[in-house]
Amino acid sequence: MDQPSPVIRTRGVRKTFRVAKRRPGLLGGLRSVVNPLVREVVAVDGINIDIQRGEMVACLGPNGAGKSTTIKMLTGILVPSSGKAEVFGMEPHRQRRAVAQRIGVVFGQRTQLWWDLPLRDSFDLLRHIYRIPPRRFARNLAEFSELLQLDEFIETPVRQLSLGQRMRGDLAAALLHDPEVVYLDEPTIGLDVVAKHRVRSFLRELNRDRGVTVLLTTHDMSDVERLCSRLVIIDHGRLLYDGGLDELRANVEDHSTLEDMMRQFYERTSRELLEELERDVMPTGLA
Ligand SMILES: Nc1ncnc2c1ncn2[C@@H]1O[C@H](COP(=O)(O)OP(=O)(O)OP(=O)(O)O)[C@@H](O)[C@H]1O
Ligand SMILES: [Mg+2]
Repeated sequence: MDQPSPVIRTRGVRKTFRVAKRRPGLLGGLRSVVNPLVREVVAVDGINIDIQRGEMVACLGPNGAGKSTTIKMLTGILVPSSGKAEVFGMEPHRQRRAVAQRIGVVFGQRTQLWWDLPLRDSFDLLRHIYRIPPRRFARNLAEFSELLQLDEFIETPVRQLSLGQRMRGDLAAALLHDPEVVYLDEPTIGLDVVAKHRVRSFLRELNRDRGVTVLLTTHDMSDVERLCSRLVIIDHGRLLYDGGLDELRANVEDHSTLEDMMRQFYERTSRELLEELERDVMPTGLA
């Protein structure tokens, strides 16, 4: 039987940034203003991923690996430098509106809510923006308020919320319009153990009961153990692993904790990748 087409699909997707490089010293700094030196950073270096409807996938990798950049291309915030990123068969940056109606995004490091408004007013604005039918909105808000326990701070302006409260607000906000696909970029960052537990249960239910496809990034290995059966690991913008936890265990020597295992994996692949990258830039004949 044919495999149904994936909801998320990338083919050789690549993103480079041009960043200004300063020359050393005061004079150098002045020269750089007039005549900037430009350096190219390869954030994502040709990644192929297929994610089927209803999957819950963890995207892992060390700091600066290219995880957030990949997510940003899948939402349409960033345009790939080359290759393709598709969601529901559409290219997010070309069909931003159509894609936005069907996806939800949470960037744990930055709120998407209106800073000066009470949480409830942010939700209400989103109801208008996404044209959510009133009954559906009321039903979703009631359900999310209960699951994430939003009641005690729903009337509070977002800027006065604690990190954990704000994160729960952000999660609800990203889901009010019933997205089919949700990207969560570090959704448990800075949460206390109780809030983490609550957020994880919430995500599990969302995936299991509503069939929402979830792609999440995290540095918390317990998130992975409790939520995801599939992991993709990225480093230096390249896809290094795509598979289950057990297969990954078979790949490394130290199995004590997932954290030890990941550290071992990152250290080894990072070394191998750097060697490979060095070989790539060596003139032929020397390598
Ligand atoms: N707007 C930008 N301009 C220039 N360079 C950028 C930009 N955004 C990201 N980068 C660079 O691209 C690389 C990948 O960054 P990215 O934010 O995707 O990493 P990440 O895997 O999400 O890391 P972390 O775990 O720290 O969040 C890094 O080297 C980063 O410095
Ligand atoms: Mg990131």
